[in-house]
Amino acid sequence: MIPYGRQQIVQQDIDAVVEVLNSDFITQGPQVPKFEQAIAEYCQADHAIAVNSATSALHIACLALDIGAKDLVWTSPISFVASANCALYCGARVDFVDINIDTANICIEQLARKLAAAKQQNKLPKALIVVHMAGLSCDMQAIAKLAQQYHFSIIEDASHAIGGKYQAQPIGGCIYSDITVFSFHPVKIITTAEGGLATTNDHELADKMRLLRSHGVNRDNKHHQQQPWYYEQTLLGFNYRLTELQAALGLSQLQRLDEFINKRHALANQYKLALANLPLTWQQDIPDSYSSYHLFIVQLTESAPINRDQLFRLLRAHDIGVNVHYIPIHSQPYYQAMGFNPGDYPAAEQYYQACLSLPMYPDLTPAQFQHIIATLTQLLS
Ligand SMILES: Cc1ncc(COP(=O)(O)O)c(C=O)c1O
Repeated sequence: MIPYGRQQIVQQDIDAVVEVLNSDFITQGPQVPKFEQAIAEYCQADHAIAVNSATSALHIACLALDIGAKDLVWTSPISFVASANCALYCGARVDFVDINIDTANICIEQLARKLAAAKQQNKLPKALIVVHMAGLSCDMQAIAKLAQQYHFSIIEDASHAIGGKYQAQPIGGCIYSDITVFSFHPVKIITTAEGGLATTNDHELADKMRLLRSHGVNRDNKHHQQQPWYYEQTLLGFNYRLTELQAALGLSQLQRLDEFINKRHALANQYKLALANLPLTWQQDIPDSYSSYHLFIVQLTESAPINRDQLFRLLRAHDIGVNVHYIPIHSQPYYQAMGFNPGDYPAAEQYYQACLSLPMYPDLTPAQFQHIIATLTQLLS
């Protein structure tokens, strides 16, 4: 089966991991800070905090922003559940802003309307978690303008988007947000097997996230000279640490990040050319946004001879491992039990009915690509 996404591991990656295995530190050594510094430099952010998943990064990002039981957090219904769950971990309530069906990112007009209504009802969110769907940045300047007007914090869930750009600046530079989060799961752009990272330009947020990642325990303190064993817990943290093996893999992968993005763009362009005459549309670019193309998502149009579910099954039967990103979060049973209902976010639901993610990764071969195009053409003509 051709997967919808997969990692590229080369000898250089293996050597980097083996070198760490033969070294003194397989966790809490020099590789993690090196990886953090390399990502901070790539993204032009002041701070980078590496953790064991994007889910953990989202959790500590929310906690660093003091999100708690009395707070409301808004996000997109078209994302992985982690984008909303992180607020629930903090005891906050979640609400969603419907998407723009053409970009699959949150709709700025809906956001503006919802904020105006929320202000009237005294129900403004403390934070908005925007999701750069498939690697395409949201319109961050417009969102930041609304954040200034209505006083909420912004977390960019850029799990899909490392290597992408907004206004020609790397995503992760936090020019229009408080914190940006990346995922390094194997289907993402670069991988550490499991892993995630938060960037920020705010040193207080960075210090707090570093503490939260490791039990809330600080070893750099005034007692250190007299009592070198001394450590102090100042808040309730977790063990969300990335290992040295993972950081070494990430550092090695980072060297090929731009090459990965170029290959993904080339593939996206090939798809757009080859599918132009089929009853399909795809994510519309927005000005200023350079996608990382984590996913290549098509939408079936009404003139298609079969529906998405049929196409999904037929492609799988032809060994093409398509996938669906995403089932709207508010329609998950856990969220329905909290009071969300079908029909709450119509654009997200309409998008979900017709979306399909085609295989997209740097090592997809020309023969595999031809098989995908030939099969789609046969099924949709
Ligand atoms: C948009 C988004 N946010 C968060 C996550 C969670 O990432 P991780 O698996 O690294 O915890 C994912 C993973 O699929 C995702 O796609």
